[in-house]
Amino acid sequence: MPLLGVNIDHVATLRQQRREEDPDPVKAALICQEAGADSIVAHLREDRRHISDKDVRSIKKALRIRFNMEISLNPEILDIALALKPHQVTLVPERRKELTTEGGLDIIKNRSLLKKACERFYTAGIPVSLFIDPVIEQIDAARRLDVPMIELHTGKYAVQKSAFSRNAQLKILTRVSAHARKLGLIVNAGHGLKYHNTTPVAAIPGMNELNIGHSIVSRAVFVGLAQAVREMSALTARGPHD
Ligand code: PXP
Repeated sequence: MPLLGVNIDHVATLRQQRREEDPDPVKAALICQEAGADSIVAHLREDRRHISDKDVRSIKKALRIRFNMEISLNPEILDIALALKPHQVTLVPERRKELTTEGGLDIIKNRSLLKKACERFYTAGIPVSLFIDPVIEQIDAARRLDVPMIELHTGKYAVQKSAFSRNAQLKILTRVSAHARKLGLIVNAGHGLKYHNTTPVAAIPGMNELNIGHSIVSRAVFVGLAQAVREMSALTARGPHD
């Protein structure tokens, strides 16, 4: 059974709508920890659209489970991660205009930049994971960078509408995962995983950890909304004349 990493970026997305204190992603991280998450994932983006520098510092301090910090190759962000020393970094591609991470890293094209970044993390004793599409050549290139682990991008699997095409993508993920494990890599996966499509990915032999965010935060709204209304309703029912 794979471990579960919970990505809390979208708690911070909601906070940033008002630039206020709530909802606090650090508090969210602690609730995830209490609920059995094995790690917390947060992406400090160059544009700071959701998670902030202060958030990553507080998350690292508050957690007793692993903090997996997602970062791009942006030099400023690399320095922040190196100084913070999270338990793990996951290198991802980043484009300013994207809504979320689109596609995996092109390890072949970005080899020399990645090599330099990975070496800095090895020296600091921080394990690196590379977020990549399920493509054999990318896995082989990741292996050559001597990283201990990869995260397979499950986005293409997750958006398939028919059982047939979903199955085809699952077969690719399974085959590529087996190839990576044979090379000695630890295999994680994530992106776009929902309550209805996660089980088959969790069943891929040797899958180490699944990183899931948007669907968990979305579900939290619905499983928590009734309680939130009841609490406010109790307050509004108590007027000053009561
Ligand atoms: N893994 C990586 C590398 C990601 O970039 C993301 C999205 O930030 C996730 C997992 C989680 O994806 P989702 O929010 O769709 O579950």
